[in-house]
Amino acid sequence: MDTLRLGIAGCGDIAGFTALVSRFVPALRLTASCDLDAARVSSFARRYGIKATYTNYEEMLQCGGIDAVYLAVPHDLHLPMACAAIAAGLPVFVEKPLARNLPEGRRLVAASEAAGVKVGVNYQYRYDRACHALHGLLAEGALGTIRHARINLPWHRDKKYFEASPWHRSISRAGGGTLITQGSHFLDVALWSIGKAPVSAMGYVASPGFKADIDVEVDTLAAGIVETEGGALISISSSMVAAREGRVSIEVYGERGSAVYTNRPWPRLVVRAPGFRAARQSGPCLPGFHALQRSLAAFVGWVQSDRPYLVPASEALPVLAAVDGIYRSAASGKRELL
Ligand SMILES: NC(=O)c1ccc[n+]([C@@H]2O[C@H](COP(=O)([O-])OP(=O)(O)OC[C@H]3O[C@@H](n4cnc5c(N)ncnc54)[C@H](O)[C@@H]3O)[C@@H](O)[C@H]2O)c1
Repeated sequence: MDTLRLGIAGCGDIAGFTALVSRFVPALRLTASCDLDAARVSSFARRYGIKATYTNYEEMLQCGGIDAVYLAVPHDLHLPMACAAIAAGLPVFVEKPLARNLPEGRRLVAASEAAGVKVGVNYQYRYDRACHALHGLLAEGALGTIRHARINLPWHRDKKYFEASPWHRSISRAGGGTLITQGSHFLDVALWSIGKAPVSAMGYVASPGFKADIDVEVDTLAAGIVETEGGALISISSSMVAAREGRVSIEVYGERGSAVYTNRPWPRLVVRAPGFRAARQSGPCLPGFHALQRSLAAFVGWVQSDRPYLVPASEALPVLAAVDGIYRSAASGKRELL
């Protein structure tokens, strides 16, 4: 297969950006798009030069003109729509999170493995050069044993965000709020980089910011502590109620040094460790101008040539376990074992 023909399900916010960067993935062609909203799918298809449009996902799966599916739909649809694609023998590139919660995520992984159909999850920060460098640094042991990490995500979402996509407000549809939707990107990077399974979690969630205007059930502010095997502690503060979108940071502290990732003004990693040379920062990341473009290109390479993709579905389970644990702890008031 020279070119992978991709069918997009869900033509909302992120799908537009993915369609844009897909123009820079030479081995990929968007050949079909699908959305429940007929006007949305036709204007999306016009904008990105996609020939076939559908308002029925099953019809797109059976159309014969696609080799894989990209799911950019609400979180409650990740499991059923991925399973339908798997049943049709089509590999899936599913937006993060893998699913609404850990049991659903495990079912999706089991379905993919039982059928031998590839499912990749778009946790694209693993393809951000500085996050990739952080992972490489920790994998080579440059900081020694990792003791703790601290993630801060001071993001901003306004009323329009919830009005445009009401599912984002609903716990039953989204599984949660800022923690699962935004914070899980960087919790995934921290867990992947530290390379140890999460074993327990504590959490506190709140929903300030919107109640007066609009009914938002999900967390707009979340704080959590995740303990990994070997006793490292990862703390996270994830927010969508900062007055303005601020800089994301991941600070990692090991017995021999520390490393700080920041995403603004551009992704960067500052390392303080004896003997560390800046040259080591250029890890084996793919070419390309954006992490999402590299993630998409890597998924295509995985499907076409079996080159490894960094986030097969099973790799997205640890972060889902950690997120689940933080939410369970926030409800129980106790430390939760994962
Ligand atoms: N990787 C990233 O950085 C990133 C950024 C934003 C969102 N996301 C993820 O992308 C996914 C979609 O989020 P969004 O913000 O684009 O949502 P959105 O609400 O903007 O778009 C979702 C689209 O899915 C459509 N849809 C709903 N049910 C459908 C069905 N049965 N068949 C076909 N289409 C259907 C909706 O009509 C809508 O157009 C979520 O998993 C979200 O977490 C990822």
